[in-house]
Amino acid sequence: MNFEIEKLSLAQAVQVSADALLVLWPSATLPKPLAHDPVSRWVATAIEQGDFELKAGAVLTLYSQSGIAPRHLLVACTGDNQASQIRSAVLAAWGAIKASKIKRLSLHLVGDAAPQGVLLALSSLAEASYSYTTTLSKPKPRTLKHVQVSTESASPSVTQAVAQAQALVAGVELAKEWANRPANHATPTHLAQVAKSVASGRAFKCEVLGPKEVAKLGMGAFLAVAQGSAEPLRFIVMRYNGAAASQAPVVLVGKGITFDTGGISIKPAAEMDEMKYDMGGAASVLGVFKALGELRPAINVVGLIPATENMPDGLAVKPGDVVTSMSGQTIEILNTDAEGRLVLCDALTYAERFKPQAVIDIATLTGACVIALGAVRTGLFSSDDALALQLQNAGEASGDTCWRMPLDDDYADALKSRFADVANVGGRAAGAVTAAKFLQRFASRFAWAHLDIAGTAWRSGAAKGATGRPVGLLLQYLMRLAQSPVATASKTKKTVTPAQATPAKALLVRKA
Ligand code: BES
Ligand code: MN
Ligand code: ZN
Repeated sequence: MNFEIEKLSLAQAVQVSADALLVLWPSATLPKPLAHDPVSRWVATAIEQGDFELKAGAVLTLYSQSGIAPRHLLVACTGDNQASQIRSAVLAAWGAIKASKIKRLSLHLVGDAAPQGVLLALSSLAEASYSYTTTLSKPKPRTLKHVQVSTESASPSVTQAVAQAQALVAGVELAKEWANRPANHATPTHLAQVAKSVASGRAFKCEVLGPKEVAKLGMGAFLAVAQGSAEPLRFIVMRYNGAAASQAPVVLVGKGITFDTGGISIKPAAEMDEMKYDMGGAASVLGVFKALGELRPAINVVGLIPATENMPDGLAVKPGDVVTSMSGQTIEILNTDAEGRLVLCDALTYAERFKPQAVIDIATLTGACVIALGAVRTGLFSSDDALALQLQNAGEASGDTCWRMPLDDDYADALKSRFADVANVGGRAAGAVTAAKFLQRFASRFAWAHLDIAGTAWRSGAAKGATGRPVGLLLQYLMRLAQSPVATASKTKKTVTPAQATPAKALLVRKA
């Protein structure tokens, strides 16, 4: 998809040739009944007749009107322009025209269009018109190729937002593509190839390690998960260098379980197919790197992906086995289905060598997080309040939201083992928190955050498919960091008290 921006009044926008014109109209802008442009007059009449309300998500449609170049005209209300309202307005409007073959769409934002609003409108349009086709024998390719954006005032920051939207969409769609692919079309080897091709630009380096190198590094936890699989593991290291080498990088670590059967602690059959999505964290890291390559912000970012299947086998790791992680800590594997934390803990130890300013891991880690937060917000755990706040704010701004969860040390009691330094599972209680407490043991040397995307990385049921989350959140965080590197998270570790773990500060910043 290709986006273009122009400064136009609504009266001019109706003359732009396209298959459809979508006008995004905030509640606060009342249409003038005697306005110059026909759209304002129709909206005014529809409101007067009680047929249309300026309420978020309301859509007014017209077809083949004189004085309007596109054959479809849609007016969708964006309420007070909150991220979720812009998204639902765009999705509702697209629903009304998706049966038509829309190739060119003209998108007009009424009023003072904020750059963030433009970004959200474009990414929502891409989301609405996306469909997965790779493994279909007769794919119906997406018709929407071009979006012409217009606003009444086109500031440089709006132009910048369009560029960011273009890169964001490319990143989100790469993440969706690879998460949606069945596990036999998305092996660890395939993921490494994707990383190599994403990294083929100048500002990138990409290194791929195999079983031998990983064994040499002493990644005993990662190896234990991989030992039951016929597909060889891959450890992917991507480096984007947009700033001086002296600037400490942000490290992103993505869980890359290309299929999670549970191993010997095997999962039930129902919905097990969805465990092809267990590399959603890895897909989001690939997506972020795709976007970084297009935007080239002044920042250094490292991407780490431990990729493997989790399979039952004669050689597979067994419940009760004790392994030694790269950190030297021994782990009693009480449940082989808690494999995500095992591959991540070694990647976190590996991250130390980059002397990072922050490390963020992204993982479809626990069913318990789905129970806690559902499909709306990603679970955020962090040992660093400044980093947590930046991620919360990036979530609110991008509409790719998260919610901070606690890390009290008392939760770690559940992980006590008689046979190793730590067990890989606690009980059923607070399963998302105990998983994070496990990871925290391997993240004491840097500011660290963990995003549990088990509920948000894909949708189940009729609309089954990857969401591309949290590429939006991460890209927003990184772009802000590139603009104001002084605001980086502190390197010193801070203790988190439950009082600090409330998102009150995030809400304050958002309203300011
Ligand atoms: N990949 C799963 C987590 C998951 C389950 C994500 C369902 C989305 C939907 C993870 O590897 C896992 O199996 N976790 C276990 C941990 C348990 C054994 C402590 C879980 O959540 O059941
Ligand atoms: Mn599992
Ligand atoms: Zn898993």
